[in-house]
Amino acid sequence: MKIEVCYTPDLIHQFDLKGKVVVVIDVLRATSCIVAGLNSGIERIKPIASVEECRALGDKGYMMAGERGGIKIEGFDLGNSPFDYMQPQLKGEKIATTTTNGTKAISLSSDAADQVLIGAFLNLTSVIKTLEKQNKDIILFCAGWKGKYNLEDSLFAGAVCEGLIKSATFNDDATISALYLYKSMSHDLHYYINRSNHAARLSGFGIMKDIEYCSRIDEFSKVPYLNKEKELQI
Ligand code: MLT
Repeated sequence: MKIEVCYTPDLIHQFDLKGKVVVVIDVLRATSCIVAGLNSGIERIKPIASVEECRALGDKGYMMAGERGGIKIEGFDLGNSPFDYMQPQLKGEKIATTTTNGTKAISLSSDAADQVLIGAFLNLTSVIKTLEKQNKDIILFCAGWKGKYNLEDSLFAGAVCEGLIKSATFNDDATISALYLYKSMSHDLHYYINRSNHAARLSGFGIMKDIEYCSRIDEFSKVPYLNKEKELQI
């Protein structure tokens, strides 16, 4: 079982996804929302690339969720906060969501990969256990920010590498870097995630509680996956 880390959607064309398990990572905040929402009772989440397509699904019984530039889209039911996704009245609902980077990374992996899983610190240990059980080659796909590297997704990739250190191999510099990044910062994840560019962007909108929540480890035990209908479920 080999692990590779892809740091941004702009680099994914360099990876062969065929036959591999891809874990999409957008700690702030898309994959944290998906993990929190599906583990809290939302039935399905459909990741969508554009705002227009998301609105069209709104007419077909989906609740509409998402952001652009971190801000809730006008007229949508939910923004992109894990707290939006954990509301008890959403149990059994189907949500269509579009976000700046996270849903893009999911769409870019959905055709070629053997399986697409959703990871965040909120379900870290379950992601590691699931990957261990599947025993297939893995791509840890960081959503980044508009094609650029980001700290929080890279840290999560490193955490998965550490969890699989005895059962997987990795030799490329990108993956080794993620491991040592995590090792050097794992003593205070919240502090380092708080120092990231995206935390600064979000703090402008007063959502510090989202950042604190998304830095928590193992709040949930299930790993969302993309099904044949290209919807996420657990
Ligand atoms: C994204 O997909 O880019 C993010 O989840 C943005 C956000 O924090 O809302």
